[in-house]
Amino acid sequence: MPPEVIDVLEEKIPDVDKALEQLIVPIMDFKESLATILDLGSGSGNVSRALSRRFPEANIYGIDYNEMAIANAISTSKTQGIKNVKFLTLNATSLPVEWTQKFDLVIMYDVLHDLPDPASVMKEVYRVLKDDGVASINDPGLHSNHRDNVGNTNVAGAGYAISTVICLPCSLSADDTPGHGMGWGYENKEALLTSSGWRVKDKRNIGSHMSLNFTCVKEQRENYVI
Ligand SMILES: C[S@@+](CC[C@H](N)C(=O)[O-])C[C@H]1O[C@@H](n2cnc3c(N)ncnc32)[C@H](O)[C@@H]1O
Repeated sequence: MPPEVIDVLEEKIPDVDKALEQLIVPIMDFKESLATILDLGSGSGNVSRALSRRFPEANIYGIDYNEMAIANAISTSKTQGIKNVKFLTLNATSLPVEWTQKFDLVIMYDVLHDLPDPASVMKEVYRVLKDDGVASINDPGLHSNHRDNVGNTNVAGAGYAISTVICLPCSLSADDTPGHGMGWGYENKEALLTSSGWRVKDKRNIGSHMSLNFTCVKEQRENYVI
């Protein structure tokens, strides 16, 4: 991803602390304490730093496969005195073996539709999340059927255009990708989640009218009494 795009992405959440407060509401319905958090696809670390301010005692990891974004994340966080976030350059399709069942929360903010291989990444998220953990997935709230987006000028004017130059190339940046981008749409994303072991417990707009947030738990958790 070129540096100009990384800079644009860094500025894209107008009030990241406020967006995080909204995100936390449905998460806390399913998980009281968040000691270990993974910000997957952290980019330059905006969300990780907001998590650090909100959960100063937590052990937070921000990972991204873009080395330049991670270098920015490390330098900005150092300047801001952020102490409890560790940034690593990693591909989310292959997270460290020792992270199995490590996290109380995995956040994917504006990442799912950009992934060349979302099914593999969601398997890794399943592995690294504790059985009683929560996955919070914030992604553009476009419909999967393009006709259903007709008349939504934000989607037509901004979503598809941005996706053509940022999201779609990102999601096509490996061999044999489905090439989703924003046009994937939330109905099809939800179908992928539910067919791969996730239960979507909450769905709401968070951050902007274009974003739809899925708060998910592992399907198997539904079979326990916690
Ligand atoms: C739209 S940006 C969002 C960045 C950040 N979450 C935010 O909201 O500011 C999507 C990020 O996902 C990262 N990404 C895409 N595929 C990835 C993969 N397989 N492993 C790790 N990061 C990935 C990209 O490098 C990019 O930084």
